[in-house]
Amino acid sequence: MTNEKLVALAINAMDNAYVPYSNYRVGAALLTQSGKVYTGCNIENASYSPTVCAERTAIFKAVSEGERKFVKIAVAGGKNGEISGEFPPCGVCRQVMAEFCEDGFVILVVNGANSFTEYKLSDILPFSFNPKHIK
Ligand code: THU
Repeated sequence: MTNEKLVALAINAMDNAYVPYSNYRVGAALLTQSGKVYTGCNIENASYSPTVCAERTAIFKAVSEGERKFVKIAVAGGKNGEISGEFPPCGVCRQVMAEFCEDGFVILVVNGANSFTEYKLSDILPFSFNPKHIK
């Protein structure tokens, strides 16, 4: 699975976003160590706080299917589905990544039609609180 293909899957996943309140469509595509890809979109709610981000949708779909080892995730988003710059993972999604992923887990943040930047989890969530602290 190339980075380019994973990015394309994340962009496709934006189509399923349920975003009647913000109109920001976000898509994610998560590659597991077993070689499978789980996609996700953001799903909003009239009560706002139950809203779930695209990254967590993808991660929870994977975990619920028995997958817990992840290699990388691609994330794309933008108002009305138009990508006009980076849409990086929120803090809550970074914390969920820290639960399941190693420091070297890669986040591909899309910033244009066929353009993305690669980040490591340890760079975007330094000094994380993670399962090692409560074992
Ligand atoms: N959103 C995501 O899907 N992922 C993020 O990491 C940041 C925010 C969604 C939540 C909400 O539906 C919309 O983007 C605007 O905040």
